[in-house]
Amino acid sequence: MTRVVLGVSGGIAAYKACELLRLFTESGHDVTVVPTAAALEFVGAPTWAALSGKPVATDVWSDVHEVPHVRIGQEADLVVVAPATADLLAKATHGLADDLLTSTLLTARCPVVFAPAMHTEMWEHPATRANVSTLRDRGSLVIEPAEGRLTGKDTGKGRLPEPREVFELCREVLARGTTGAPDLTGRHVVVSAGGTREYLDPVRFLGNRSSGLQGYALARAAAARGAEVTLVAANTSLSDPAGVKVVRVETTAQLRQEVVSAAGSADAVVMAAAPADFRPVAPSGSKIKKPTDGSAPAIELTQNPDILHELSADRLRPGQVVVGFAAETGDATGSVLDLARAKLARKGCDLLVVNDVSGGAVFGSAENEAVVLAADGASVDVPRGSKAALAHVIWDEVTKRLPSR
Ligand code: CTP
Repeated sequence: MTRVVLGVSGGIAAYKACELLRLFTESGHDVTVVPTAAALEFVGAPTWAALSGKPVATDVWSDVHEVPHVRIGQEADLVVVAPATADLLAKATHGLADDLLTSTLLTARCPVVFAPAMHTEMWEHPATRANVSTLRDRGSLVIEPAEGRLTGKDTGKGRLPEPREVFELCREVLARGTTGAPDLTGRHVVVSAGGTREYLDPVRFLGNRSSGLQGYALARAAAARGAEVTLVAANTSLSDPAGVKVVRVETTAQLRQEVVSAAGSADAVVMAAAPADFRPVAPSGSKIKKPTDGSAPAIELTQNPDILHELSADRLRPGQVVVGFAAETGDATGSVLDLARAKLARKGCDLLVVNDVSGGAVFGSAENEAVVLAADGASVDVPRGSKAALAHVIWDEVTKRLPSR
């Protein structure tokens, strides 16, 4: 059974860690909760004990004969600290070990995930910035807090991401195991997801069936590998992946603007979105009325810019890896792979992820099957599997092509 240590430090978000604990235990993980003394001011030991089915200790003086300050960390497959306060991050950075959680962090040799939660000022303070940077350099995964309502009247960056999303990220880290060090730490990646809408009038639009699932899987996988992730999401209704900056858009023009703006500092851009290729030339400012004579209005369309082509041509940052997607069926002019090779050359990107949609669409499905074609001639067959698995193959191929640091 997978052994998880859930460290909880003393912030109000400790209550959300109860939900995280449930998600771990209900999916069969063996969880040892190690709260700090301050965490117990927010949520008491009986709650942690009841939800984990184990006794809970915070100091190093209980069950000393079992040497818990060393054993808990040594035996863990994953340590996740949620919430991680500014104080806890500082202690971890400096190797302090004055309680059971900080001692556990010193003895753990497994992946360690910190999910910080604090007020924006504390997160942005140079001391915290330096601590986070040191922890990341040492191989820990420190996820970016979410933006939104904080304790009291404040809003800003500093929220603990939704427990389900912290859980999903931890599952990805566990699946990669101890060999899967966060290889995208220090890299900024941009992922687009979903399908754009082009409005005919204030209530009607041209759209498509893209669910955004593959783009979200890519964003989640990149965050689990340590990347700073910007997810430009068009009309999706999925929850924000933990540690990911989500920018919401509707139209292809908005998608283009946000992707291009974020791409300026990106090491890689993955265009998993399905931008509408056409938009009405003159959208109506008011709702188009149904003609009484039974006719239908003609709608003149114009082409949208091809964002992938533009990114590939402009290369907004030297060495940037640009990835596109293609859904192909094959036709009289060529097989799926012939058409995909031609598209790869036409678009000018480095990698093209090709879905063969001849046998039915993959929209909304949790699974995907693909071939990743590279401009350098390589190709990787990805058998039918989860969108998360495909996402990791794509990041593996991206990582191989990033300039070394
Ligand atoms: N793309 C884009 N901007 C557009 C349209 C598509 O950046 N205006 C990107 C998509 O995000 C995807 C890739 O281009 O990465 C898909 O290419 P596209 O030519 O749209 O593929 P198909 O829809 O399969 O096109 P076609 O009908 O030409 O085969």
